[in-house]
Amino acid sequence: MKNSVIFFEVEGGNDKGPDGHRKDTIPMIMALRSQGWKAETIFYRESNFDDLLAQIPEQYDTYVSRINPGNIPGGEVRYFELLSKLCNAGVIGMPAPEAMVAFGAKDVLVKLRDMEMVPSDTYAYYDIDDFRRSFPSVLSTGIRVLKQNRGSTGSGIWRVELADERLIDTGKAVPVDALVRCTEALDNHVEEHQLGEFMELCNQYLVGKGGMIVDMPYLPRIVEGEVRILFVGETPIFVVHKKPADGGFSATLFSGAQYTYDDPTQWQGLVDMFLRNLPEIQQRLGGHSTPLIWTGDFMLDTNPDGSDKYVLGEINCSCVGFTSHLESGIQQKIADEIIRVTSAKNN
Ligand SMILES: Nc1ncnc2c1ncn2[C@@H]1O[C@H](COP(=O)(O)OP(=O)(O)O)[C@@H](O)[C@H]1O
Ligand SMILES: [Mg+2]
Repeated sequence: MKNSVIFFEVEGGNDKGPDGHRKDTIPMIMALRSQGWKAETIFYRESNFDDLLAQIPEQYDTYVSRINPGNIPGGEVRYFELLSKLCNAGVIGMPAPEAMVAFGAKDVLVKLRDMEMVPSDTYAYYDIDDFRRSFPSVLSTGIRVLKQNRGSTGSGIWRVELADERLIDTGKAVPVDALVRCTEALDNHVEEHQLGEFMELCNQYLVGKGGMIVDMPYLPRIVEGEVRILFVGETPIFVVHKKPADGGFSATLFSGAQYTYDDPTQWQGLVDMFLRNLPEIQQRLGGHSTPLIWTGDFMLDTNPDGSDKYVLGEINCSCVGFTSHLESGIQQKIADEIIRVTSAKNN
């Protein structure tokens, strides 16, 4: 074992500080160094693919990926290829590319369907024909949220509501010329379209690699906030309670949502429920270890007996930020987890 870790970033992008790095990268590196480990960061470029592939397995035990796949110049395909090849060459992937896709894609919800945290009427469409065939019937059951797979700021996340309530619960598919009111989570702006026209606008989310739309019921209690648990490995570190702006359903900062930071013990029921289910979640997602730094986002719903129910909205794991918690020393916990995983795999 070399006791050394490489962090991948990309150059540029709005997540960087004045030194060109994400604000949380150097603190993690310093935390590893303070424990006597070697830790460095490197900018991934497609042009240095071969050099990285040749050098990293010789010099490092583990990589940590701090890149949003949507922000990679030249696309994510080659980057994922590099990560796979590094893992095959014995480098420990934090996370491995398959784990990143398994946990982070929106269809995680469908893979976890019928567990207590995912409504049974949650679906995924992977091609235009299936979407066209299925969505008009699903929409007849009530207000829906459609989620594209790419992006992470509410862009391409649509609340879709029928303008004419008489079309709900008829047992028949909604006609394509029915008017739908569509609100985008990016900024809570509303557009009215005929259903067929709106579905055509959504085709862009279905094309290309990773194209998919997840279709889930709208949960009106989103107005009470989205609850994000941030984990390091299997340990919940903090909770962000994100309350949408008045009249909106989006929990993004850009749309005006208010954030408060809580201790996980303030959400013990939710945390316990999720950790109890974590082994089954991991198994359903392909048996991977949990990512290094990841979040589960939850919304409130109500059980038949009136008690609170928590519904999973998505998992993020490709480059979750935690600058809000640097002062509380989260970087040390992350360094400990990197050292723990690296040491366990190398023994
Ligand atoms: N089923 C739902 N019911 C109500 N609001 C939802 C639902 N799903 C998502 N939202 C709202 O839309 C926002 C964006 O959706 P999300 O799945 O988190 O996509 P993104 O990847 O863009 O963050 C969430 O933060 C939440 O406020
Ligand atoms: Mg989100």
